Amino acid sequence: MNLREFIAQARDRGWLVTIEDEINPNLEMARILSAHDGVPIMFTRVRGSPYPVVAGVCSDRAYFALALDVPPDRLLFTLTEALAHPVTPPLVADAPCQEVIEPDVDLTALPILRHLPDDAGPYVTAGVCVIKDPDYGRNVAFHRLLRLDERRFAVRLVEGRGTDTAWRKAQADLEVAICLGAPIQVLVAAATSPPKGVDELSIAHALAPTPLVKCRTKDLEVPAEAEFVLEGRITHQVTAEGPFIDLTETWDIVRQQPIIEIDCITHRRQPIYQALLPGKLEHKLLMGLPREPTIYAAVNQVCDCRNVCLTAGGMFWLHAVVQIAKRHPDDGRRAIEAAFRGHTSLKHVVVVDEDVDIFDPAAVEWAIATRFQASRDLVVLENQPSSSLDPSATHVPGQKARTSKLGLDATIPWIAPDGHLRSEEERAAFRRVTYERCPALRKCRAPRTGGEVWNAKR
Ligand SMILES: Cc1cc2nc3c(=O)[nH]c(=O)nc-3n(C[C@H](O)[C@H](O)[C@H](O)COP(=O)(O)O)c2cc1C
Repeated sequence: MNLREFIAQARDRGWLVTIEDEINPNLEMARILSAHDGVPIMFTRVRGSPYPVVAGVCSDRAYFALALDVPPDRLLFTLTEALAHPVTPPLVADAPCQEVIEPDVDLTALPILRHLPDDAGPYVTAGVCVIKDPDYGRNVAFHRLLRLDERRFAVRLVEGRGTDTAWRKAQADLEVAICLGAPIQVLVAAATSPPKGVDELSIAHALAPTPLVKCRTKDLEVPAEAEFVLEGRITHQVTAEGPFIDLTETWDIVRQQPIIEIDCITHRRQPIYQALLPGKLEHKLLMGLPREPTIYAAVNQVCDCRNVCLTAGGMFWLHAVVQIAKRHPDDGRRAIEAAFRGHTSLKHVVVVDEDVDIFDPAAVEWAIATRFQASRDLVVLENQPSSSLDPSATHVPGQKARTSKLGLDATIPWIAPDGHLRSEEERAAFRRVTYERCPALRKCRAPRTGGEVWNAKR
């Protein structure tokens, strides 16, 4: 689903907040966004720019579910399928993203947000960068971009990732196309890290139709329905990039990073600029969602995994809940160890049975409260590879960070304290007793998620 279709659908459902007062992209807009985290917001009048701004598009599982036409708790399976079976997208000759070709490049006309007073400057945060690696082909990834002047950005390239490796190999400038306001499936695909040689735009096309068009000045193809495309080159000049807020809502450091020069800007008629509030829900969710399938696959190798949820409190990165269909007394422990293999940045994991709603933190806590014994069900792994994002890990320059990891097996314990294997009937005693639904209630739509709730008849 492209950005405009999403905005229209979000408006129809009453999810979209529209702000018609003139708002300044210099600090003011980010403050409003931070007060409305988790909600799609449209700013129709932006100080200093003719373009409206939308943000919060990826800040809830329900929005991905809408855009990909799948229930929120099935996202993992849709993504797993797309990762396993990418589909080459078609190439079209005429594309909305090239309806207007700007005669001059002027990045100051874009409503690029400055988010915090201590930021190095205004940053593009929802830019999806398309490049070609001579050995592995197309690579598509998010890269934050610090606007330096009318034509140039500093780009953050995480070392060893797709864009960075291609840039280091390139003798000359590396061609790049930066897509702003890309279709939602492209945003999801750009956040994945498939094996080298797997094209993220083919993953996007497997999720939802994603026609491509050739760039006007570069040998690159981009999603035809993006709002803006900035065609340019990643040069071998470097400059200071940062400070900038990270996923952890702590400061990322200043580094020497490459400069991008923009040669051509194309866009749709009346284009919409997309912003993404760094450190907040949509940044975290986009990072985390593509890891759920990798955890799922790893756990499935050792037992029957039913679902995986990276949780908001763990920044959708460090904490997961794994749901299994337990068939063996040791399945919970095996699932813990496999989950850490499936996402090496994972730090804490809780494993629960099929009857626990992994998307409800209170339900997960209930499982810990009623099924978990620390002396029996706790797994602690010391001196493990860690996420670079965890400030509490041990960080030594030039080395992978190290951390301790913790897993809680909160599945129904099959072995009783006296050592006997509990019967099915004994295990059933751990299940939650529920009340029946009252026939006098009637169904209505939940206001934000579109799910069904029950309300009293008047
Ligand atoms: C919102 C968001 C912002 C990101 N910003 C950056 C960034 O500034 N630099 C970077 O190298 N990766 C960034 N990433 C991560 C890349 O998109 C991610 O590394 C990509 O999955 C790696 O794919 P690749 O190894 O195929 O390049 C960001 C991801 C998200 C979701």
